[in-house]
Amino acid sequence: MSQEAKKHLTYYVLTYGCQMNVYDSEILAALMENEGYLPAAVPEDADIVIFNTCCIRDNADQKVYGRLGDFKKRRETNANFVLAVAGCLAQKDKEGILQRFPQIDIVLGTHQVRRLPELIKQVLVKRQALACVGRVGDHLDMPARPLSAFQAKIPISVGCNQWCTYCIVPYVRGPLKSRPLPLIKAEAQRLAAEGWREIMLLGQNVNDYGHDLEEDIDFATVLRELKGIPGLDRLRFTSPHPAYFTDRVIEAMADNPSVCEHVHLPLQSGDDEILRKMKRGYTGDEFLQLTAKLRQAIPNLGITTDIIVGYANESEEQFENTLRVVEEAQFDSAFMFAYSERPGTPGALAAAQVPEEVRMERLYKLIAKQNAISEAKHRTRLKQVTEVLAEGPSKKEKGRYTGRTRQNWLVHFPCEKDLTGSLVRVELEEAYMWGFVGKMLEVVG
Ligand code: 5AD
Ligand code: SF4
Repeated sequence: MSQEAKKHLTYYVLTYGCQMNVYDSEILAALMENEGYLPAAVPEDADIVIFNTCCIRDNADQKVYGRLGDFKKRRETNANFVLAVAGCLAQKDKEGILQRFPQIDIVLGTHQVRRLPELIKQVLVKRQALACVGRVGDHLDMPARPLSAFQAKIPISVGCNQWCTYCIVPYVRGPLKSRPLPLIKAEAQRLAAEGWREIMLLGQNVNDYGHDLEEDIDFATVLRELKGIPGLDRLRFTSPHPAYFTDRVIEAMADNPSVCEHVHLPLQSGDDEILRKMKRGYTGDEFLQLTAKLRQAIPNLGITTDIIVGYANESEEQFENTLRVVEEAQFDSAFMFAYSERPGTPGALAAAQVPEEVRMERLYKLIAKQNAISEAKHRTRLKQVTEVLAEGPSKKEKGRYTGRTRQNWLVHFPCEKDLTGSLVRVELEEAYMWGFVGKMLEVVG
């Protein structure tokens, strides 16, 4: 296809799953725009639609497979239409996706992102479906086009060496691969100089950073190296693993004023036997000791978590242990999931599993408990005056802005001006399970 004709083709990236996938979508967007493709406002208008997929739980798979049906007949009305499926589900199901969904033109594995433009060109010429799912290669040295209006992301590592027995991530993202620290630092400096006030460091297990590098460096070194970067107001990271949370990392967090007073610390289960079966490397008590240590080192710290119910034939008593740790840990909020068997993982091979309806019952019980804790905790913070990074107008209510405090609490506040990306001071006036409604006092900058 000539450069002239291609200029008019548009693309849309549909993103599913975690922050790493959001980052990959930023790279896909940059790749597409470098080639001259233009962003479409909605997928229905795009010539090229890219699904960037997740496979962490079965419902993530089903979401993608359900939505693919919407694009079944698009080629009939648009001869240039190209449908690509990238990301973790593409890596997991590989060529099989092409057999199941003949409307797909390209299957692109997690290590092959940079090949997308070349594959699109081939498909436009030859009209033959292609799968590219080899496990060698990465794309982290490629420029990203931040899709968020207020936060830039920097991957510090990809992959994971932990092999938690329920998790499919190491299978689809490969082993831990840390990026060189000078690259990370240069990227942070550049992004801050470009005006990004908040940077999110990404990795499947951020505090395993550096174990695969020759230098003697760890995640604490990263936090220390990113201290004092002009313009960088907020530094966040996700996700750390509790068993790797060394005192060095806690000290480095406390010592860097940019590091936000928030940790996302996945508990997964509060029962020691289940934690052992998960291969998590800590007990419920050790987890609670870590939260106490963190709260002592970092005043006014927000702690959030991930929890799975119904793993490894979990008994009622083992589930109760999770409820007990949740009560003691007093998380600000939590992502809570019913266990989903992932093909090929040790957890899925076990003969005895918790029945689906029991998983759901436990999930609702846990959600109710955590919701009550979140609301009660939020209530204790009423009247606090706090700094909020404005993320954009609320999608639900006109005239309201939405943003987050350094602790990651969600705050809505009435505001008619465009403040996206600004820091504002807000008084917290109403507390809810999901966060706060506040009054804006001033724009800080
Ligand atoms: N089933 C349910 N939840 C899972 N998670 C990871 N794998 C599974 C699974 N097989 C959850 C964990 C993890 C989060 C990103 O997703 O809680 O921290
Ligand atoms: Fe999955 Fe465990 Fe690695 Fe997290 S640390 S990505 S849960 S294997």
